[in-house]
Amino acid sequence: MDAKTHWESVYADRAPNAVSWYRPHLETSLALIERAANGNKSASIIDVGGGESTLVDDLIGRGCEQITVLDVSQVAIEVTKKRLGRAAEQVRWITADITQVQAEESFCDVWHDRAVFHFLTAAEQQIAYVRNVAKTVKPGGHVIVSTFGPEGPTKCSGLEVMRYDAESLHSQFGVRFRLIESSKELHHTPLGSTQQFLYCYCRVQ
Ligand SMILES: C[S@@+](CC[C@H](N)C(=O)[O-])C[C@H]1O[C@@H](n2cnc3c(N)ncnc32)[C@H](O)[C@@H]1O
Repeated sequence: MDAKTHWESVYADRAPNAVSWYRPHLETSLALIERAANGNKSASIIDVGGGESTLVDDLIGRGCEQITVLDVSQVAIEVTKKRLGRAAEQVRWITADITQVQAEESFCDVWHDRAVFHFLTAAEQQIAYVRNVAKTVKPGGHVIVSTFGPEGPTKCSGLEVMRYDAESLHSQFGVRFRLIESSKELHHTPLGSTQQFLYCYCRVQ
């Protein structure tokens, strides 16, 4: 089954707050995005694999003016747009597979991904993803990627996933991406279990 078919069926079957990755607010992501944007409300921010998360709501609420949400699932994008109502018009929506889309050159200041890169288990998918980050993010821009940590689960949503520590995640991106900070987060799922996440925050040279 390809990524699109899988994720469309996940979102067609489950309520937004019933999936294991759900959090009412992505506090760590928000704090890192605010730090990267450094008070610039017109910074161009992309949330890759945003799904049905409330990150976009919170970014709009903080006055961010240039937000793009990309996800392979049209169902997830439609649910999020409906929740936002008229505010959805302020956002650029892209339904695409990040490993296949032709990225626009140097259009964003901040790239954010929570729980997408770890689903890319084949080297060619990882290379295609990193190529898109390198093309899309402006020199001097920031990349925030969160995956399962070394003690995180080995599967999510029925799919095999990769687990990373800061060094192995950073090595996927290479020296052009200067690692500024990494941290681990214990995520409490709606079903009562815990999952270790890793955040890496990099600056593009
Ligand atoms: C585990 S969910 C995380 C959603 C959201 N980032 C969050 O933290 O709540 C993974 C998301 O990535 C999307 N996704 C998975 N593979 C993708 C790909 N190759 N390209 C774009 N989106 C993808 C899925 O549709 C899903 O919304």
